[in-house]
Amino acid sequence: MEEPKIPDWEALYREQDVEKLPWFTKELDPDFAAALKSLKLRSEHVLDLGTGPGTQAIALKKLGFDVVASDISESAILKAEARAKKTAPGIRFVKDDILATRLQGPFDIIFDRGIFHVFAPEKRSPYVQNVSGLLKKGGYLMLKCFSDKEPAGEGPYRISEEEIRRSFSPALQVLEIRASFFKGIRQPDPHALFCLLQK
Ligand SMILES: C[S@@+](CC[C@H](N)C(=O)[O-])C[C@H]1O[C@@H](n2cnc3c(N)ncnc32)[C@H](O)[C@@H]1O
Repeated sequence: MEEPKIPDWEALYREQDVEKLPWFTKELDPDFAAALKSLKLRSEHVLDLGTGPGTQAIALKKLGFDVVASDISESAILKAEARAKKTAPGIRFVKDDILATRLQGPFDIIFDRGIFHVFAPEKRSPYVQNVSGLLKKGGYLMLKCFSDKEPAGEGPYRISEEEIRRSFSPALQVLEIRASFFKGIRQPDPHALFCLLQK
């Protein structure tokens, strides 16, 4: 199968209107919202990893979380910071590469909406080690990625349930993996996996 073409993130965010990016959505992802509700999590110290347009970080801040938001692209961080200024002040935005992170944990929850699936298989191990290192014991990783039910084509790597289990064991315990969709991004909605893991 052809390897996915992963964008030059900095060039992308520098040049594009973020509202036109296929993953842009103002609402908190419904799978994250449902998991927070069922776990009764409300005001924790959280990391929105690969925040991009910053919409998930903003939605989390509005719900009362103490939010750090990171991205490898400085332009993404500057645009997200400007977006957050009026409606959700107090988010700490940081330029950071999760594969060589300088972030300081521990976090109670880390959100990954569309980051893990941009990494080639050989980069997954450093990702897992770094994410795990940033979580407190008992903390959660909520991860949403393209699933292998999504036909090959444009976009990121397609991830199977087995790849999630293999990549994260033994660092994090898999509590749930279920089929979902990335709503409102492309038509038809791309098949996704929603994964809840715990340290
Ligand atoms: C598909 S976008 C998702 C953005 C955002 N989470 C959302 O749902 O709107 C993937 C994001 O991961 C960021 N990213 C890619 N590689 C990264 C890395 N090594 N460290 C941190 N962020 C990274 C990109 O800049 C991009 O913003």
